Amino acid sequence: MTHTSPPAPLQARKSAALKGTARVPGDKSISHRALILGALAVGETRISGLLEGEDVLNTAKAMRALGAKVERTGDCAWSVHGVGVAGFAQPDAPLDFGNSGTGCRLVMGAVAGAPITATFDGDASLRSRPMRRIVDPLALMGAKVVSSAEGGRLPLTLQGAREPLPIVYRTPVASAQIKSAVLLAGLAAPGVTTVIESEASRDHTELMLKHFGAEIVTEPEGAHGRKISLTGQPELRGAPVVVPADPSSAAFPMVAALIVPGSDIVLTDVMTNPLRTGLIATLREMGASIEETDVRGDAGEPMANFRVRASRLKGVEVPPERAPSMIDEYLVLGVAAAFAEGTTVMRGLKELRVKESDRLEATAEMLRVSGVEVEIENDDLIVHGKGHVPGGGIVATHMDHRIAMSALAMGLASDKPVTVDDTTFIATSFPDFIPMMRRLGAEFG
Ligand code: S3P
Repeated sequence: MTHTSPPAPLQARKSAALKGTARVPGDKSISHRALILGALAVGETRISGLLEGEDVLNTAKAMRALGAKVERTGDCAWSVHGVGVAGFAQPDAPLDFGNSGTGCRLVMGAVAGAPITATFDGDASLRSRPMRRIVDPLALMGAKVVSSAEGGRLPLTLQGAREPLPIVYRTPVASAQIKSAVLLAGLAAPGVTTVIESEASRDHTELMLKHFGAEIVTEPEGAHGRKISLTGQPELRGAPVVVPADPSSAAFPMVAALIVPGSDIVLTDVMTNPLRTGLIATLREMGASIEETDVRGDAGEPMANFRVRASRLKGVEVPPERAPSMIDEYLVLGVAAAFAEGTTVMRGLKELRVKESDRLEATAEMLRVSGVEVEIENDDLIVHGKGHVPGGGIVATHMDHRIAMSALAMGLASDKPVTVDDTTFIATSFPDFIPMMRRLGAEFG
C-alpha cells in the first residue's frame, strides 16, 4: 500500500537562538501498546496523551477491525473497550500498518494467539522490512504463515493458533518488537512463555502488562540481558494509561538546541525509562548541557523536564551495548557528532539497516551531502566533527520520518541551508514537528 500525499520538500536555515518550552507528542511505543493491550483487556482503557501520528492511528484502526471499540474522546484522549485475550474477531479486509513496523509486528503477536486469520500490509518501506524474525517464533507457538511476499515479507497472511503453545525463546537480536510479539502471543497460551534477550531492549510491554494485571517476572541474564517470564491466560483488566512525551521525538529539538548558538529550551514530561535514555547519556559525555528537573513517575514509566542549552560538543566513542537504548536516535546523534569537535565512533549499528530505511547508509548520506566527513566500517559509523557543518545539500528522506527531522535540525545551524526532499513522513511520529520547532524559533521555508 502506498503513502498518498505528494512529496513536500522543506528547507531549514541558520536560525537565531531557540528559546521557549515545548511538549513533544506522546511516546510512540507506549501509544501502540496502550491500544493493543486495551483491545486485549476486559473493560475500558482510558488513554491520555496518545500520540495521534499516522503509525498509531493505523494501530487504532487495526484494533477496530479486530473487534475492539476504539474511540477518540478528546484531544489525544482515547477510550478502548477490549475483547479479552484471544478474543479478536476475524477482520474482513487486510490490516494496513502504513509505515509502522512496531504496530504491524506487535499485532502479529496478538493475532498469533487468536483463532483467526489476518492479512498484514504496509507501505513500500514496511513491505521491504524483515518479518521472519517475528513469524518464526510465532510459528513455534502454533501460528501459521498462509502466504507472504518473497523473503517472508508483507503482504503476509497469518493464521493464529487455536491452541497456542508457551515457548522459551532467545531473541536473535535485541528487539523489543520480537520480544513483544512473543509475549503478546504468550498471553493466550497456557503456562509460562519465556523470552531471553542477551541485551535488554525497551520494556514497555512488560511494564504495561503488569499494569493491566498480568503476572510477569523479569530477571537479569548475563551482563546486559534479561529473562522475562509471562504466565499465560491472565484476565487483563482495562486500566488508565497516561502517555509521557516521547524521548525519541524530544531528541530532535534537544539536538537542535545544542547546536544552535545561544539556545535555551525546556522539554516537558519526557519519558526517562532507562532503556530509552542512551542518547542523553551520550550527549552528556559529549559535553551537552542537559539538566533534568521535576523527575516523577507514572504507571511504571518515569518522566522529567529537560532544560537544554547550546553547548560545545566533543567527539566520543559510543559502545555497542548502548545501541538498544538509543536505537532510533543514531541519526540525530550523527548530526550532533558533525557539529562536535573531533571524531565520534558509533559501534554495533547492524539493526539500523532494517529500520524504516537503511539508516546506517542514510545517515552517512545525509551528512555527506552536507559536507561532513563520514565513514561506515562494517556496522560502525564514524563521523569526523569539525565544529560546524557546511550544509547546502538536498537530503533524501527514503520514506523515513527520522531522517527528515534530523536533517531539518541540522539545517538550523549549518553554514548554508539544508533541504529535505519530503517531509510527509514526519506525520507518522511527530505531526506537529514543523510548527513546534517554528514556535521555538526554527527557520524553515
Ligand atoms: C520499538 C522498538 C524498536 C524501535 C522502534 C519501536 C517498539 O525496534 O526501533 O521504533 O516500540 O518496540 P526494535 O526493538 O525491533 O529494534
